[in-house]
Amino acid sequence: MLRDKRILLIVGGGIAAFKCLDLIRRLRERGAAVRCVLTESAAKFVTPLSLQALSEDRVYGDMFSLTDESEMGHIQLSRQADLLVVAPATANLLARMAGGMADDLAATVLLATDKPVLAAPAMNVRMWLHPATQANVGLLGARGTMFVGPNAGAMACNEHGPGRMAEPLEIVAAIESIFAGKLTAGPPQARLAGPDTIELPGTRSEGALTHRPLAGRKALVTSGPTREAIDPVRYISNHSSGKQGHAIARALAALGADVTLVSGPVAVADPPGVRVVRVESADQMLAACRDASPVDIAVCAAAVADWKVANTADAKLKKAPGAKPPAIDLVPNPDILATLSAPGPDRPALVIGFAAETENVVANAIAKRARKGCDWILANDVSPATGTFGGDDNTVHLVTTEGAEAWPPQSKDAVARELARRVAARFA
Ligand code: CTP
Repeated sequence: MLRDKRILLIVGGGIAAFKCLDLIRRLRERGAAVRCVLTESAAKFVTPLSLQALSEDRVYGDMFSLTDESEMGHIQLSRQADLLVVAPATANLLARMAGGMADDLAATVLLATDKPVLAAPAMNVRMWLHPATQANVGLLGARGTMFVGPNAGAMACNEHGPGRMAEPLEIVAAIESIFAGKLTAGPPQARLAGPDTIELPGTRSEGALTHRPLAGRKALVTSGPTREAIDPVRYISNHSSGKQGHAIARALAALGADVTLVSGPVAVADPPGVRVVRVESADQMLAACRDASPVDIAVCAAAVADWKVANTADAKLKKAPGAKPPAIDLVPNPDILATLSAPGPDRPALVIGFAAETENVVANAIAKRARKGCDWILANDVSPATGTFGGDDNTVHLVTTEGAEAWPPQSKDAVARELARRVAARFA
């Protein structure tokens, strides 16, 4: 099936690069022609000479080599292939592919190609599971890249989990499936493996993660802004991106919680394995929270508009020559955090709020925790200079009945993972 097929093998810089030697041999046995492009770091793991000997072709690596470019330019390299195979596809190479970078020959060829691309990821388990890598893989899959692996198992870095490159024969089988039209684009899919294990994207069941301390717990997370309608085309809202709330939903789900995420309008992607309810206004958000209740854990990360428009117009407000601008009367919105925190049979065992403050962060958060009746508050400084609103990082204090604890500045994902860890410890 592979007779006379031309494979352009792009070798990334990872320990799994040695498997490419066997891959080339297997492909050649089946009649395929293999030509290799090597990244600079790949050349530290496998020598161009070995690849050249096995492929019986020149090995390409330097984008600015005058001979390479005159004899075989980067466009020609992809034009003369039927399929591009990236193996090992390292976290760095996947990130460069997702970012459309053209900073070396390998990335340039991948950006310039119109041929199908198969990637065999290989990296440390934490790097594979990192949201950045998962987002890159998702993006590439959506754009048409096909994936084989990674497999789970023991890794060179003494860790265990998904991240091992697929074996050469598995890659050969995937290549044959592509030419048979049986393998289509898309990232490895997350699959539920059973009540107590979750197979993370691209894993095999033998490596499924079993550390799910929140299994059997229900969690509710609010995220993003709300929109309060002025008329059918105008609204009051705020700059909340939803990044922090979505990251918390993802982190709780990763620890096994059954998560409902009630989200205002945001541009961030739905976290995997989470039930997402989309709403616009605070009233809708509260109704969705009530529908999701009772839960064990509630995290209110949404930036709920404090006020809504009392006199929402049914038709678009029109300007009239010389007329005064319309008056907009505001009335308070329901406080979702305070409502969920109110004592009662359905009160979640743990209610966590946020305090977006621009001054006296901790003092205001301590007062806010008492006022709203929640158990914990994550207080963050949202003054414009911090870049918290819409940014990727967050500096928070955790305020509990015991006092306030300063957390170091870190990414919103890291804040979410630490919070989920604390929640799991609270339920242990
Ligand atoms: N919150 C909520 N419903 C509202 C307002 C806020 O659930 N109507 C929640 C937020 O999700 C957050 C917490 O309350 O968890 C605090 O939000 P924040 O905007 O900091 O506090 P406010 O109550 O708006 O107080 P203020 O604006 O006076 O600081």
